[in-house]
Amino acid sequence: MILQAVLDCLDFWSILLFVFVFLLMADILKNRNPPNYPPGPWSLPFFGNIFTDLEPKTMMKLAEKYGNVFSLRKGSEKMVFVTGYKMMKEALVTQGQNVVDRPDIPLFNKVFKGIGLISSNGHMWKKHRRFAGTHLKNFGEGKKTMEQFTQQECMFLCQAMEDEQGGYFNPMVVIHNAISNVICTLVFGHRYDYSDAKFQDILRLDNECIYLFSTARAQLYNLWPRLFDYVPGPHQTIFSNYDQIITFVKEEIAKHKKDWDPSDPRDFVDAYFGEMDKMAADSEAGFTMESLVISILDLFEAGTESSATTLRWGLLFMMKYPEIQEKVQAEIDRVIGQARQPCMADRPNMPYTDAVIHEMQRMADILPLGFPKTTSKDSTLGGYLIPKGTSITAILTSVLNDESEWETPNTFNPEHFLDSQGRFRRREAFCPFSAGLRACLGEQLAQMELFLFFTSLLQRFTFSPPPGEVVDIEGVLGFTYFPKPYKTCATLR
Ligand code: HEM
Repeated sequence: MILQAVLDCLDFWSILLFVFVFLLMADILKNRNPPNYPPGPWSLPFFGNIFTDLEPKTMMKLAEKYGNVFSLRKGSEKMVFVTGYKMMKEALVTQGQNVVDRPDIPLFNKVFKGIGLISSNGHMWKKHRRFAGTHLKNFGEGKKTMEQFTQQECMFLCQAMEDEQGGYFNPMVVIHNAISNVICTLVFGHRYDYSDAKFQDILRLDNECIYLFSTARAQLYNLWPRLFDYVPGPHQTIFSNYDQIITFVKEEIAKHKKDWDPSDPRDFVDAYFGEMDKMAADSEAGFTMESLVISILDLFEAGTESSATTLRWGLLFMMKYPEIQEKVQAEIDRVIGQARQPCMADRPNMPYTDAVIHEMQRMADILPLGFPKTTSKDSTLGGYLIPKGTSITAILTSVLNDESEWETPNTFNPEHFLDSQGRFRRREAFCPFSAGLRACLGEQLAQMELFLFFTSLLQRFTFSPPPGEVVDIEGVLGFTYFPKPYKTCATLR
């Protein structure tokens, strides 16, 4: 009996050992790197480098050790990272045709479904990007009407700050609402009042997702999505928050459907209805109701968090460097004065302010790790072989702080964008919007927002921290890099 039990037991362990060795060999064979693949740290069987934090400081240390093209593996996903301006340009611009598609990131694709603008690929992405780009031009970017609308939103924001009557307050909620109103006007044709509790809730849910997306626990979902679908954790909060945001988007779409006049499109939703009819025969282009919902989500996400976070950084930098704030105000007084609102035609006459806004974006570095793409065919980069289907990420922080491109990369220095005569000068390594075919679609819109909001606020107020408080310019890394919550006093000038 005892012998039988020992034999049974041995059988069980032998089988277990055999299965383990089999799986280990299969894992090694499946994940082995081809010759001349970019170097990287040793990775664990099955897990790869999941314990390596994907955060800027770690990435820069890896670049120091392995060079400006290095690799990591998360589970079975092969990831290559490139650093520095020259290699970023080589990867995203020179070889840009091979680096256009988005990889399948389960946590992201569970919500965004690989459709719409940001996560789609191929024909669907091309058609959606062209359509949204045309809409942004016709309804917004560069157009006087959009400029006027943004100016109006600047007035609402200034009024909200004036209502604080010189007290200390956290500007986050009103700034996010104001910036979001610009994209909401483009998409839905109207703005939301800063006291609209329902809209505030949508912004709060969205903000929570942006923070949770990059937490290590939420990222576990990317390794075993089928298993984690049934496990509680931050990924479930992300999914439930997006469910609520999507319900809100669908309600707006339903209202539009009721009084849609195809001959008079009022906004993105109306224009998309028209495109659905026009493109009905081209099913691969994917102009469907589901894609409309996700495209709106894309524009809302990309258009709110990025510009609002940059503006929040901007006010923080002005509190940290009051002498720079004074110089911006002096230029505003000289070029615009106090009798009228700033407009885009002022920008060429305000090189110092323009330089400060660019430096604000460089130092804010809100998407330090960039956004991944995947190779559509075997390529070589920096002399290494990158097989088809490898995820490639250009680390934007390494470009915005590249020591061979910037005179004083670690200092807030508007002179980076001024020539010896004080004229504004463009810098090639200025890439907060990324580069290549997949670069930010809203760059012009974002630059207009930043100029109008920033100059309107500094025309009207001086921003200062609570007495005795040291302004902290260390941020927090979520999906974006954002400032810690702070209070400011907006003193009327
Ligand atoms: C300061 C503000 C902004 C910054 C720093 C920023 C930055 C970026 C970056 C780094 C990417 C990823 C590009 C890549 O994959 O290489 C991106 C993509 C994108 N951005 Fe922005 N963005 C900003 C504002 C906006 C605004 C206002 C909109 C609204 C229209 C917008 C719409 C998009 C879209 C639709 C994409 C996806 C493009 C694609 O996949 O083809 N962004 N942005």
